[in-house]
Amino acid sequence: MASAARGQWSGKMGFILAAAGSAIGLGNIWRFPYTAGENGGGAFVLIYLFFVFAIGVPVVLSELAIGRKTERNPVGAFAVLAPGTRWRWLGGLGILTGFVILSFYAVIAGWTLSYLWGAVTGALNGVTTAEQSGVVFGALIGNPGLMVFLAGTFLAITAMIVRGGISGGIEKATTILMPILLVMLIGMAIRSMTLPGGAEGLAYIFSADFSKITVGVVAAALGQALFSLSLGMGAMITYGSYMPEGENIHQAGIIVAIFDTTIALLAGLIIFPALFSAGVAPTAGPGLVFVVLPTVFAQIPAGQIFAIAFYALLAIAALTSTISLLEVVVSYFVDEKGWSRTKAVTVLGTACFALAVPSALSQTEGSFFYSLPGLGIDFLSLQNIIWGNYSLSIGALMVCVFAGWKWGIPAVITALESSGHRLPASSAFGFLVKFVCPVAVAGILVYVIVTQQYF
Ligand code: PHE
Repeated sequence: MASAARGQWSGKMGFILAAAGSAIGLGNIWRFPYTAGENGGGAFVLIYLFFVFAIGVPVVLSELAIGRKTERNPVGAFAVLAPGTRWRWLGGLGILTGFVILSFYAVIAGWTLSYLWGAVTGALNGVTTAEQSGVVFGALIGNPGLMVFLAGTFLAITAMIVRGGISGGIEKATTILMPILLVMLIGMAIRSMTLPGGAEGLAYIFSADFSKITVGVVAAALGQALFSLSLGMGAMITYGSYMPEGENIHQAGIIVAIFDTTIALLAGLIIFPALFSAGVAPTAGPGLVFVVLPTVFAQIPAGQIFAIAFYALLAIAALTSTISLLEVVVSYFVDEKGWSRTKAVTVLGTACFALAVPSALSQTEGSFFYSLPGLGIDFLSLQNIIWGNYSLSIGALMVCVFAGWKWGIPAVITALESSGHRLPASSAFGFLVKFVCPVAVAGILVYVIVTQQYF
């Protein structure tokens, strides 16, 4: 395979940072806290952590093995490993899923730009109470034109970087910024945990009340684990396909999973104490972090500087995730349809923007998309649940069935060990991929359908 022509990471570190860049994003800092808040706090977090290690890590490794072996996009990869079968449709579902996730993700990423602007201009200064912060947020979501514009801007920046290719564009953008984000989050967590009333927030996410668990909560925790690790839609297949030979790919995958989970928990340590300190309800929904964070900055010395740095980093963390979402879709059209990178980026970026418009409009009260007839849920939240929870779950389930039963565990392990590094606990890995993941995920999906507890 002409890997040089497709592009490659410059080495293991380049891969880790790019894959961590894909995994770490709004999923950790925006989606995790509000989903945990809506689903009862501690018990959700516990189930999420269980899924990260019991299902997430085996799926990360399976996807990386598929990419490593085939050096292809998700559709091409399944076509190589299972020629003449319908497995390529699984790759197709992943590409569609990535496309839709990108469309609503860009809207929230646009919000980070608005807050960055607010921090730079000083408009966020003096936002000390939850009420004041709610007014600022209300002004944003009351302005659909602005949200469409911001989502479009974010998609345009994403498209420009993806056009630049693998090591030139994507890798450069991630290498320095991820470590800075980590350090800032630690600082903010310390401030937040020492706020008056902060302890109550810690109790909320660290004490599990199992009476709050429903199958909807379990499905949301599974979806969150997969979403946060960028699994179930082929991103790790695609990123694994750019891994140079000779690098320890399974170790890199596990490092990414640990890094990603740490950042989500850190976000929880920032948001929940601050939320209880400011008196915001944990169930506030998608606006949660945007309402809570300004009240934290207001209580930090030189808060404006922290706010600028934080929103800039959040926007960048989102960008390294949107890059991976678009890259999966683009790599399919480049590899399989023979499109040029420029054409793929332009056509798909524009189409994605069109789909982002209803999501952007869906946050404004009174808009048609704000509460969909018969569902009582907004368009963005609906996409988030269908594609961000269920489609990723189906994708992860099928990847395990493919790796465990079609391609076979010995072949998966051979691919993971092709660099000469042995995979530790490989029999546990095989057991998780063949039995635990398929049974658990299928069981949850069937239970959700039977009991109709979709949200
Ligand atoms: N993992 C990213 C985040 O947490 C989102 C994402 C999902 C990116 C799926 C790629 C694929 O923000």
